[in-house]
Amino acid sequence: MVEMIDKIKTLAKNGEKEIIELRRHFHMNPETSWNEVETTKRIAEELKKIGCENIKVGFGGTQCGVIADIVGGKPGKCVALRADIDALPLNDEKDVPYKSKKAGAMHACGHDSHAAALIGAVKVLTALKGELKGKVRLLFQPAEEHGIRPGAKALIDGGALEGASAVFGIHVMSTVSSGVLEYRSGPFMAGADSWETTIGGRGGHGSAPEGAIDPTIAAFEIGNAIQTVISREISPRDTAVISVGGMKTSSYVFNIIPDRVEMCGTVRTFRPEVQERVRAAMTRLFKTLGEAYRCKIDFKYTPLLPSTINDPDMTTLAKSVAESVLGAKNVRESELVMGSEDFSHYGKVVPAVFVNLGVASAEKKSDMPHHSPKFDVDESVLWNATALHAAFAWKFLEEN
Ligand code: NI
Repeated sequence: MVEMIDKIKTLAKNGEKEIIELRRHFHMNPETSWNEVETTKRIAEELKKIGCENIKVGFGGTQCGVIADIVGGKPGKCVALRADIDALPLNDEKDVPYKSKKAGAMHACGHDSHAAALIGAVKVLTALKGELKGKVRLLFQPAEEHGIRPGAKALIDGGALEGASAVFGIHVMSTVSSGVLEYRSGPFMAGADSWETTIGGRGGHGSAPEGAIDPTIAAFEIGNAIQTVISREISPRDTAVISVGGMKTSSYVFNIIPDRVEMCGTVRTFRPEVQERVRAAMTRLFKTLGEAYRCKIDFKYTPLLPSTINDPDMTTLAKSVAESVLGAKNVRESELVMGSEDFSHYGKVVPAVFVNLGVASAEKKSDMPHHSPKFDVDESVLWNATALHAAFAWKFLEEN
């Protein structure tokens, strides 16, 4: 085991230069969600060159996304490794030679690093193919950032997990020190939902409320009341957020009572039971308070992304792999993360584990927030992500 991890680390480190070059190529040529056509082509080319089998390109009715297999020399199970590949609609404001060449597109979440590190791992695992027990499925997934049409769902619908027994994913993290890995068993990242409502009243003169049905009063009341869902209807041991993202009246004039108010917002939860409770309570409050104020309520609650729940056994495996690759002192438990990930969809199909790898270095200016126009990563960490992918796959196949 130790010997194999050392071999993997050496191979990953030997590929470091290429991993960084690839990362910079993707960084300079970013493509936003469901536009990753050239990125996809480049990845497919690399996989072909390395000698992958069953390469399949294009998911969700697009030319975006690649899956492929590394078929080991011995019989065994199939484990999937996932990297997302999309960029964000932002202008790159960094002053570096590998700055984005495209206006309005930037890799501001590190998915360029994910793609490059996984390609590195494909090389490592291919070099060890003869000793692999089973298959490694590679998932280069588009549109993680899309939210409404998640790439993970499209890959699953396209058969990406067929025959797979587990899936592993890594995210680089600019809020965690370079080379430190954070893991968490069970609920890890929040699920994200959206909601919207129309509160219908009857418009009228601001001086004569008796002739109108004022929807603003219902909106104020409901806006306050839904916060009691968090404080009074779910356990204090659970974590959830309800936020109002927007509020719009049908008219905006000092002496007119509008006939309609529209509101929208988001809900974040970690457990399906809590999500369901929040949804039910919000639906009830909108309906009953709306009625109490004589308004007509149209309330729509849309689950967007499930929470990312790490399988306990997979988490134990990932932790032990991380300790051998990075050293135990660089591996620690994560807090709950309020952000969301479409990786969660994979965990609904097979046991899954998602971990965060720190890339924050003040000296390398890689400690800017994710999704900020100055986001960057500490590239010296990337070969570690490669080694982690390869070591996880190898150990899973060895032990299952
Ligand atoms: Ni991301």
